[in-house]
Order: sequence, then structure tokens, then C-alpha cells
Amino acid sequence: MNRIILMGFMGTGKSTTGRILAQKLGYEFLDLDKVVEEAEQRSIPDIFEKEGEAYFRQKEKELARAVCQRDNVVIAVGGGTVVDPENKELLLCAGKLIALYADVDTILERTRTEGARPVLDKASETGRREAIEHLLRERRDAYRGAHFSIDTSHISPQEVADGILRFIKAGAEKHA
Ligand code: S3P
Repeated sequence: MNRIILMGFMGTGKSTTGRILAQKLGYEFLDLDKVVEEAEQRSIPDIFEKEGEAYFRQKEKELARAVCQRDNVVIAVGGGTVVDPENKELLLCAGKLIALYADVDTILERTRTEGARPVLDKASETGRREAIEHLLRERRDAYRGAHFSIDTSHISPQEVADGILRFIKAGAEKHA
């Protein structure tokens, strides 16, 4: 199977780290958000605006199942994918599930660009920190229970990828 799945809140570095990790392992990299956008031929903000969040979540769920069929792959899922317990269970069984964390200041900084993340753009400029804190609290349990977790706040994506690689290699040696 050789599947590594990165989960975590928006701005924790899933896509950047995933790309580096895939390159180091010689695996394919798949970003679930991009897979949804390609299937729908439009951007996520556009899907949210025209069809609503429930429609996006349905597509996200279907395509999470599809990408989990692929082998030798690093998959970055969206920040909200694991809020659905069936998705979380699927990802836990499909491969090594890795949780990326970051503190609120880091998330705020990394998600500053508006127009890209509809779940945060709903909040006003001043309300963005509160919106992040609120969602983090709401999703706390969803991000728990991974095979490995790493705080990405003060290290580079390269270092995050190296930390994950060490975990993967240690597991591989243990089972050799
Ligand atoms: C979402 C996170 C986004 C994307 C969508 C909803 C969320 O993914 O799936 O905008 O609910 O946290 P990233 O975490 O890759 O930004």
C-alpha cells in the first residue's frame, strides 16, 4: 500500500510538506482539495458559493475514497476532511495517518490570504483569530488519534518532512 496521509487544520503545512515528502520517497503526491477542484472543474470557493458546504463535503468524501485506492502515494487531505468520522476511519485504515499541528498565530499568518478558504472567509477581518480558535476547539478530537503527530509552528516544511520520514523508517525497521 505505501500510503501516507497528512491531516490537520488549514495552514499547518500539509500540502508543502506532502510535496517534499513525496519527492523524498519517490511517491506520487495528491492534494485532495486539488482532486476535488479538478473533478468539479472549478475552485473550492466557487463550489462553496454556488453549491454550499454540504455539496463540497459530499464530493470530498467520494474522492477521499478514490484516492485511498492509490499506492505509493502521499495524500494531503483538507482541513475539514477528518471531521467526518467515516472519513477519519477510512484514512486510519488506508495508511499511516499523520497529524500536523500549529499554534494559532502561525495558522493566522499562513492563512492570511483571503478568498482561498471559505470556512475562514465567513469571519470578518477582526474575527479571523476567533474563527480559527473556535474551529480548532470544535475539531480538537477530529485531529487526535493519528499514527504520528508533529507541531509545524517553528520548523520548516523540510524539517517536518524529515520528522515524518524518521517515523516511517523506524516503523519499517521494526517490522523488517
Ligand atoms: C477546509 C480546508 C481547506 C479546504 C476547504 C475547507 C476546512 O483545505 O478543504 O476550504 O474546512 O478546514 P486546506 O486545509 O488544505 O486549506
